[in-house]
Amino acid sequence: MKDSGTPVIGVVTPGGDAPGMNACLRAVVREALSQEYRVFGIQRGYQGLIEGDIRPLDRTSVSGIINRGGTILKSTRCARIRTAAGMREAAHQLHRVGITHLIVIGGDGSLAAGWKLSRCGVTVVGIPASIDNDVYGTDETIGFDTACDTAVEAIDKIRDTATSFDRIFVVEVMGREHGFIALNVGIASGAEFIVLPERPITAAQVCAGLRDMRTLGKTSIIIVYAEGAGDVRAFAKAIEKGTGVPTRVSSLGYIQRGGAPSARSRVLASQFGAHAVRLVRRGAGSRLVVLRGGVVTDIPFPSSVNRDRLLDRRIQKLAAELAR
Ligand code: F6P
Repeated sequence: MKDSGTPVIGVVTPGGDAPGMNACLRAVVREALSQEYRVFGIQRGYQGLIEGDIRPLDRTSVSGIINRGGTILKSTRCARIRTAAGMREAAHQLHRVGITHLIVIGGDGSLAAGWKLSRCGVTVVGIPASIDNDVYGTDETIGFDTACDTAVEAIDKIRDTATSFDRIFVVEVMGREHGFIALNVGIASGAEFIVLPERPITAAQVCAGLRDMRTLGKTSIIIVYAEGAGDVRAFAKAIEKGTGVPTRVSSLGYIQRGGAPSARSRVLASQFGAHAVRLVRRGAGSRLVVLRGGVVTDIPFPSSVNRDRLLDRRIQKLAAELAR
């Protein structure tokens, strides 16, 4: 190992876990060790950082994890990191261990906290990882592809019952604030309607649309409903009342967050992790790693933090066109 003056990397996976976080951690550790940097894993997200739950990582710490969902570093939702006192404690722990560069693998809230930490004398490199795909500045986050595959597989199965019984199914997918999963999954599963937090449609509008669809000879109806769009059960009840057709709700919930990462999530995670360490090697300062137009690159942190990523209108239009 090199001595003082060389970067010492800390890596943390705060907030919601996403399939591919482990693949990313593996890439960070292996790329860092190839540069003879020391690497520390911060356990249990920002809560573990504040409490100093930090351990050294070596090649074998990341063996056999590329195919595992979740995060071997474990995670928490930590409100304290959003306070000035929490920030101070976190920075103190990083300085105590001698970490000069912190790599944050997480979603928008975790990355925003990372940016704040970068003003406490530590260089922070952010890597977008969230099934929700709602980090501004990147075309894709680690885990999104896997979550969509999981949801589509489930909806294909639900479609069998919908067809056999001539029922309507409202399938709730994750996405507390944004409809990226719902939109993608809706297109991939051939959903007749997609209800998004950004553009909620009422049960009355769906009922009106359903009357037209029946005349087109549709044999089953799937409505993909993003969790942030409202009360899914009340919505389904209103559809049943308005159409007279038995309407069931299926909430996919946390199965979308777990499971083995898809090949695409693993590759993206590996590219993001390696790129983060290359930024450290270049002395690039605090940056966010992103995917843009198929290329892994990086942008300054402030251009992403606290900005709302918008759904692509063309994809929304396509979904509506193809549902007819
Ligand atoms: O990771 C993002 C997300 O999956 C959201 O879509 C969802 O609402 C949220 O996490 C719930 O996570 P938790 O129960 O961990 O707060």
